[in-house]
Amino acid sequence: MTRPEIRVEDLHKSFGGNHVLRGIDLEIAQGEVVCVIGPSGSGKSTLLRCVNLLEEPTGGRVFVGDTELTDPDVDIDAVRRRIGMVFQQFNLFPHLSVTENLTLPQRRVLRRDRATAARVAAENLARVGLSEKADAFPSSLSGGQQQRVAIARALAMGPEVMLFDEPTSALDPELVGDVLAVMRRLAEDGMTMMVVTHEMTFAREVADRVVFMDGGVIVEEGSPDRVIGDPRHERTRHFLSRLLDPAMAEVEEETPDQVGKAEA
Ligand SMILES: Nc1ncnc2c1ncn2[C@@H]1O[C@H](COP(=O)(O)OP(=O)(O)OP(=O)(O)O)[C@@H](O)[C@H]1O
Ligand SMILES: [Mg+2]
Repeated sequence: MTRPEIRVEDLHKSFGGNHVLRGIDLEIAQGEVVCVIGPSGSGKSTLLRCVNLLEEPTGGRVFVGDTELTDPDVDIDAVRRRIGMVFQQFNLFPHLSVTENLTLPQRRVLRRDRATAARVAAENLARVGLSEKADAFPSSLSGGQQQRVAIARALAMGPEVMLFDEPTSALDPELVGDVLAVMRRLAEDGMTMMVVTHEMTFAREVADRVVFMDGGVIVEEGSPDRVIGDPRHERTRHFLSRLLDPAMAEVEEETPDQVGKAEA
C-alpha cells in the first residue's frame, strides 16, 4: 500500500454549540479517488474545508503527506499550495481573461516568472480541452467551461491532492458530462482526489472508495459497488433511494392512511 496522502484522525468541528463533525477517521492513499456522499447538512463540505484548513478543526489531526496541518507551527500557506480546491461556484476573476486567471495565482503565490506561468497555463488549459478559450473572459463561457477553467487554475499550481465540493451541482444537466470527463481523466492520470458529489454514476465508475456521511460521522465506506449497490445501513439505503428516485421517497414518506385517502 502506498503511503496515505491524506490522513484525518478523530476530526471534530463545532460551530458554537453545533457539533458538526463528530470524530472522522479517514485515510486516502496516493492516487486514490474517494467520493463523499451524504444528505445536506451531514458535514461533507466542513470535512473538505477542514482538510485544507479553510475551517479550523475543534479537535483531531489532519495530515497531508508527512506534514501535520493541525500542528500550530505549520506553514499553512506552504501546505495549502499542495492542495487544489474546486467549489460549486467557480470563483473566477471576471475582469481577467482565462489565461490571466491561471497565471495570476502562479505568479503571486508561487513567484513563477511570466513565461513559465504562461506555459503552465497553456498546458493545463489543453488538459481540460479549452485551449481555444485562452483569451476569452469568464462571462463569455458556459458554466461547464468556467468550471473546467477553475479546475485548470487549480492544476496549474501543481497540487498533490485535489478536493472537489459538488463541482457539477450548479451546472445545467447538459454541461455536467464535460466536467466529469475532465475529472475522470485526472483520476486516470493518478491524481489523489476527494470528491463530494451527488453524481452516483461518476462515483460508481471513477471512485476507488465511497464514503457515506450522516450526522457528522462516517456511517459506512467501501467500494462503490458495495456502498451504492449493496448498502449495509438503513441510513445509506434511505439516502440512496431518495437520490435515485425522489418521487418514490415522497410516496414512502406518506403514511398508508394518507395514501388511502388520496386514492379515495
Ligand atoms: N461557517 C459556518 N458557520 C456556522 N455553521 C456552519 C458553517 N459551515 C457549516 N455550518 C453548519 O454545519 C453543518 C454542516 O454543514 P456542511 O456545509 O458541512 O454540510 P454538507 O454536508 O456539505 O451539506 P450540503 O449537501 O447542503 O452542501 C450545517 O448544520 C451547517 O449549518
Ligand atoms: Mg456542502
